[in-house]
Amino acid sequence: LRAEALAQVEQAGTLDALEAARVAFLGKQGSIALLLKTLGKMSPDERQVAGPAFNGLRAEVTDAIAARKAVLEAAALDAKLAGETIDLSLPAPESPIGSVHPVSQVMDELAEIFADLGFAVATGPEIEDDWHNFTALNMPESHPARAMHDTFYFPDADAEGRSMLLRTHTSPVQIRTMLQEGAPLRVIAPGRVYRSDSDATHTPMFHQIEGLVIDKGIHLGHLKWTLETFLKAFFERDDIVLRLRPSYFPFTEPSVEVDVGYSVEKGPNNTSRRVVGGSGDDDGHAWMEVLGSGMVNRRVIEFGGLDPDEWQGFAFGTGVDRLAMLKYGMDDLRAFFDGDLRWLKHYGFAA
Ligand code: PHE
Repeated sequence: LRAEALAQVEQAGTLDALEAARVAFLGKQGSIALLLKTLGKMSPDERQVAGPAFNGLRAEVTDAIAARKAVLEAAALDAKLAGETIDLSLPAPESPIGSVHPVSQVMDELAEIFADLGFAVATGPEIEDDWHNFTALNMPESHPARAMHDTFYFPDADAEGRSMLLRTHTSPVQIRTMLQEGAPLRVIAPGRVYRSDSDATHTPMFHQIEGLVIDKGIHLGHLKWTLETFLKAFFERDDIVLRLRPSYFPFTEPSVEVDVGYSVEKGPNNTSRRVVGGSGDDDGHAWMEVLGSGMVNRRVIEFGGLDPDEWQGFAFGTGVDRLAMLKYGMDDLRAFFDGDLRWLKHYGFAA
């Protein structure tokens, strides 16, 4: 039996044949298993001789199967490797790489332009209280300007009883920065703002960059120069046409709104493109309002903890999404937030 078992194991050419041999000898009904069962009927003397012999046989066959198995497995692996070749000349599968969203890109460009002009970056919370968003900006409760902001309010007030809201502009960062850092100041505050409003040029969430300069002897000329310089740098052309209109904001006095002149060019397939340049009063030209600004109201400087007889300043708030639309010739603001790769590709923002 021993010779027969070892021969079958040795001759097994495949893992299946080896498994068949294992079952034939060591399986429940296998010949070695049956042999071991005969021990029960033997006399103690016989068993003392046969027991170790049978168990030794079982161990020997078990070892032989394990050794043969290792050999067969190694051979199977070699055969598999020999059959597979890697073609290094095949091009690698392409995986798309992400890219920076146009709005983030414009915010980065603007932060860089203002860094060159000596502005630091300040931040504030998107969930604001109505004191920072309105009251300290010279809009007391019941001020009509509050109603113009289409504010998203939270149902509950904060611990001090202030109504909580999603900030409607980045201007509350003016107050926070003055209170935290005092004067002089030269900061921009980029971020998300929220208003309940939606059409081709309004989305309920959009982006602004606030600018605030507080120093001694600051006047409207500083504001005008700063706005012209940054808009020229941003649009990368010297021939942009700006229109400064007298306006009203409760937190600036006087207030100035700024429009950029652009023309609409027709492209193929009925597409149209806004191109900055040219005056909006000429044929085929139009204006787009890009920012609100003005000299910081004395009351606001006081709310910021500073003496308005000592410190003056200017502030502006610009719509980042609109600037992006103008610079890259896009015509629907809502497309910024659709996440449509075809749109991003069309404007060169995705590979
Ligand atoms: N906060 C104003 C807005 O959201 C813009 C602005 C900022 C105007 C600073 C003047 C000064 O429309």
